Amino acid sequence: MLKVGFVGWRGMVGSVLMERMRAENDFQGFEPVFFTTSQSGKPGPDVGMGAKPLEDAMNIDKLAEMDIILSCQGGDYTNAVYAPLRARWNGYWIDAASTLRMADDAIIVLDPVNRNVIDAGLQSGIKNYIGGNCTVSLMLMALGGLFEKGLVEWITSMTYQAASGAGAKNMRELLTQMGELNGEVGDLLADPASAILDIDTKVTAKLNDSTLSTANFGAPLAGSLIPWIDKLWENGQTKEEWKGIAETNKILGKTAANSIPVDGQCVRIGAMRCHSQGFTIKLKQDLPLAEIESIIASHNEWVKVIPNDKESTLHGLTPVQASGTLTVPVGRIRKMNLGPEYLTAFTVGDQLLWGAAEPVRRMLKIALQ
Ligand code: HSE
Repeated sequence: MLKVGFVGWRGMVGSVLMERMRAENDFQGFEPVFFTTSQSGKPGPDVGMGAKPLEDAMNIDKLAEMDIILSCQGGDYTNAVYAPLRARWNGYWIDAASTLRMADDAIIVLDPVNRNVIDAGLQSGIKNYIGGNCTVSLMLMALGGLFEKGLVEWITSMTYQAASGAGAKNMRELLTQMGELNGEVGDLLADPASAILDIDTKVTAKLNDSTLSTANFGAPLAGSLIPWIDKLWENGQTKEEWKGIAETNKILGKTAANSIPVDGQCVRIGAMRCHSQGFTIKLKQDLPLAEIESIIASHNEWVKVIPNDKESTLHGLTPVQASGTLTVPVGRIRKMNLGPEYLTAFTVGDQLLWGAAEPVRRMLKIALQ
C-alpha cells in the first residue's frame, strides 16, 4: 500500500485540508503517515485507522520512506528539507507553499483548469506538484472558460485580499483591531444622539496614535486597507502582483511566446478568508454578453454566474456567502464603456479552499490513481 506523508496538517491550510479529506472520505487506499516539526512521538490524528505516533518532519530517512509527501507546512520547511530529501528520493512532492512553484521541474496544480498540464507532467515523470497563489487560482476558477476558449487578450486584476492570506495571526489581529476601534467609541455608539463626526474623530485618532495592534500587518487594516502585499519585486510591482502573470501562464502551460499579459494591484482588506477581485478583460473578439456568461458558467462545476443586479450581488457575490464553500461566484459582468471587447467582472472565493487546500487535496487523489 502506498505511503503518504502529511506535514503541516495542523496549521490553518493543513486543517482545512484535513477537514476536506475527511468530508470526501479520502483517507482510504493508502497508508497515511503524519509528521510533526515539534511533537514527534505524540499521538497523531485518527483518520479511521487508529492514532499512530507522529513522525519527525525533519527526519529525512523517514520522509524518504514515503511514496508521496503532501506539505502544508510552509516555505521555510520546504526550503529546509526538500533539497536533501530530493537528493535521494523519487516520490511525489505535493506542496501548498510557493517555494518550488516556478521551478522547471514543478507543475502548478489546479486540475479543473489545467488537468492537461498535470497529466502531461505525470507522463513525463515530473514529481513536484505545487498549489498556486490564491488570487491566481481563484481568478482561473472564475474565468477558466474565457482562458480555455482563448478569448483573453489581456487582463487586469484588482484584488481585495482577506486577512487569512497573510496567516492565522493576521486574522486574529484584524479582529483585535476591530475590537480596539469599537472599544474607543462604545459609549458614543450606544447613544443614538451622539454625533457621527465625534465618533469618526475618535476612531481616526485611534487609527493614528500607534496604539492599535499592528504587529503582524504593520499598519491598521480594520477601518482601513493596505495596498501592498508581499515584498517589492520589480518595475514597482509587488511579488503578489508579479505572480499574476507568472503563475497564470505557467498554470495554463503557456510559453514566453504565447503568454497572456496579466497585471493589477493587490490590496489587503478586512475580510476574513475570502479574496475578491475586480477584472478588466480585453477580449480577442466582441461576443454577446449571454454567450460570455455561458462560457464562464459552463467551465467547471464550482463557478457560478451571479446576475448583475443589486439583490443578486448583495446575496451572492460577497465574502459572506463564499466563505467556507467551494463555490466561486462571478458577477457584475458587463461590457465596459471602453469598447465592445472590454469586459468587467467581479469574483469572490474562499482563499483557504480553492486558494490553498483544495488543489493539493485533488492532486493527491490524482497522484494516487
Ligand atoms: N499571498 C496570498 C495573500 C496568500 O497574501 O493573500 C497565499 O496565496
